[in-house]
Amino acid sequence: MSQQIAPVSLGDIQRPVAAELGQVIGELSRIIAADFPVIAEVNEHLRRMKGKLFRPTLLLLSHRASGGGGDDARAVTLAAVVELIHLATLVHDDSVDHSVLRRGMPTINALFSHQVAVIMGDYLYSRAIIELVGLDDLAPLRVFARVTNEMTVGEMRQLEAHDKLAYAEADYDQLIRSKTASLLSGACEVGALVAPVAYRSALTRFGLRLGMAFQITDDLLDYTEPEAVTGKPSGLDLREHKVTLPLIAALASMGAAQRRSVTELMATPDPGDELVAEVMQVVEATGGLDYARRRALELAQQAEAELETLPPSPAREALRDSIAYAVERRS
Ligand code: IPE
Ligand code: MG
Ligand code: MG
Repeated sequence: MSQQIAPVSLGDIQRPVAAELGQVIGELSRIIAADFPVIAEVNEHLRRMKGKLFRPTLLLLSHRASGGGGDDARAVTLAAVVELIHLATLVHDDSVDHSVLRRGMPTINALFSHQVAVIMGDYLYSRAIIELVGLDDLAPLRVFARVTNEMTVGEMRQLEAHDKLAYAEADYDQLIRSKTASLLSGACEVGALVAPVAYRSALTRFGLRLGMAFQITDDLLDYTEPEAVTGKPSGLDLREHKVTLPLIAALASMGAAQRRSVTELMATPDPGDELVAEVMQVVEATGGLDYARRRALELAQQAEAELETLPPSPAREALRDSIAYAVERRS
């Protein structure tokens, strides 16, 4: 892959599976439906908080690129399940992170309460499990059970990262692999479950590399893009003392004075805009953003190499484009 990646829209990537994605939206509504008033109300809010359906897209494209047909109702249900698992983790994550904005809308913890967010995350996840069990097929259940558990360990890893300035790139890699890449990889693996093992393994590894590049890009956007673009407040990671790759890389080349501003931020319970802006500027000036961009591109190349195993098809090309999308997107 060249360093200059042409901009790719989500619509471009989704084109080969657009019909199925339309059905995924219907499936989601069917699966989460509830009579109970508060749950119904939260469901309605979540439906308005429409996401990009990136994980269902990967699942359906992997299915197609590894030989699956286009009118597979099971693939549509599995695609809805992966989005639901993702949604459940976001509802919990926003409560854990005390985030008030997601996809440009108030989070469940902000609009309702932390209690409601905890219960709703469990509700959505258990609905996904019921749906999986209904398929009477252990294979996708095995994958999703494993990656969901891995995600909880990832979230715990982040919570327990106390010595901020000593946080190493290897720790970060392990963190993003478990909290984000595991589910993207699982989506690709489940899409290819009935495919020959060589295709399935290649797509599983593809999803892992893509997922890591995706999370690094997410962490970069926290530094580079305003709230109006991402739908999430900018600089939030630093405000919450979250150490991500731009800061890890920048710390390696900071002088004593610059390092002191980071130490001060990490020691301040609720750092103000000025301190956050100062550290963001230091991270940029000491090459932290450039380093993270290079690392995302390196992972993108590794993801692309995995696709060589698959036979050429429009779905394979869309998977290739999804790499460019993951690292070039602005929200
Ligand atoms: C997102 O993690 C949630 C999971 C991957 C489980 P973060 O807390 O790092 O990301 P945002 O900024 O809330 O989306
Ligand atoms: Mg969060
Ligand atoms: Mg988080």
